[in-house]
Amino acid sequence: MAWGRFAFDSGLEYTGERTMGKETCGNVVLIGFMGSGKSSMGIRLSYRMRYVLEDTDKLIEAGAGKTISEIFAQEGEEAFRVMETELLEKLVEKRGQRIYSVGGGTPVRAVNRPLLKKLGTVVYLRTRPETVYERLRGDTTRPLLQGEDPLGKIRRLMEERESAYMETADIVLDVDEMTADQAADTIMRMAGRTGDGE
Ligand code: S3P
Repeated sequence: MAWGRFAFDSGLEYTGERTMGKETCGNVVLIGFMGSGKSSMGIRLSYRMRYVLEDTDKLIEAGAGKTISEIFAQEGEEAFRVMETELLEKLVEKRGQRIYSVGGGTPVRAVNRPLLKKLGTVVYLRTRPETVYERLRGDTTRPLLQGEDPLGKIRRLMEERESAYMETADIVLDVDEMTADQAADTIMRMAGRTGDGE
């Protein structure tokens, strides 16, 4: 697997040497803001690479027996953040080829960043605030974006989180102008995989 070289050759932003020789079997960890396409990309990559998909929001919902909105409303954001960290601690113990899609706020907690890096090659799906706003207009499943001035909230949160995303990422992919399939193709090529099930 030649993640690092591809990133240099392609002009994509490559943020470190860590990806070369990692002991993670080519695992991919998708991070990025809400609405950046992590979940849909995770499904595509999982299908095409024949890797197991671990979507942390879905795993938390299944474990808690509640939606994310219900967890935020009934237990508060901090309780959700604790659940995220506890889940990451379990996931790093798992073996096998995996795609991880994690919640938009996961890299913000400092303790989560080394866990994410340990899981695999971290790909940051970077978006502009306006893209997220357009994609999530009318969405009711993201508690942090309900209420007045969602675009302002997206801008503020994105700015606050950028350094955490950058610190965690091995590779940064600007996805505003890409469809999920194009972004998945790019990640597949970075992983040295050119077609379905190869
Ligand atoms: C959050 C993102 C959500 C979910 C929760 C909090 C965040 O996941 O974990 O609503 O803090 O950005 P997605 O990024 O999959 O929407």
